Amino acid sequence: MRIDIITVLPELLESPLNHSIMKRAKERGFLEIHLHQLRDHAVNKYGQVDDTQYGGGAGMVLMCEPLSDCIEKLQAERTYDEIIYLTPDGKTFHQKMANTLSLKGNLMMICGHYKGIDQRIRDLYVTLEISIGDYVLSGGELAAAILVDSIGRLIPGVLNDETSALTDSHQDGLLAPPVYTRPAEFKGLKVPEVLLNGHFKMIEEWRQEEALKRTEERRPDLME
Ligand code: ADE
Repeated sequence: MRIDIITVLPELLESPLNHSIMKRAKERGFLEIHLHQLRDHAVNKYGQVDDTQYGGGAGMVLMCEPLSDCIEKLQAERTYDEIIYLTPDGKTFHQKMANTLSLKGNLMMICGHYKGIDQRIRDLYVTLEISIGDYVLSGGELAAAILVDSIGRLIPGVLNDETSALTDSHQDGLLAPPVYTRPAEFKGLKVPEVLLNGHFKMIEEWRQEEALKRTEERRPDLME
């Protein structure tokens, strides 16, 4: 999979996307991430990419020309399955969307800043608008990093058995059950007996029950 990210702050994305599983996904050739500095498409020599909004009001808006220039340059090189704009007024991101997007070939992501991007860019180019939750970030970069991480780890081949996504919270619509490792007793708290008996079927049943219990307690909305 190839992901192109348009941003005024590529530095914000470099570290989160260059460690752990994302690093491995890139090294193994499953994932290519390209960061594009929007200021390389500025409207003047001062690097301007934003302007005040029509109608008045606080906050700057990312202008049409730099965005359109950068998007069209990328589109001339390949076809994109989705052009995603990260915005608090988008569709709330969830695991099913991550699963769907992990099967795509080319994704483009646009990070907004200040008051966001000119509506005409959304009308002309954007195919999917995503929010990572009902709160406002200073820009779309951290949201893009979250999307890339959650999508990237699901690309077939990226995770091995040890880190398999199949048993993650939300993967089957439920929260994940509790997990334990050595020692078998810690500060008087014991690992549930069932996990020590080596009976695979009983362990699976216990995990399923615990997943249901946890989901009912913490996220009753998921049970509907
Ligand atoms: N940009 C600013 N806030 C955001 C959010 N909640 N989700 C996605 N992009 C954003």
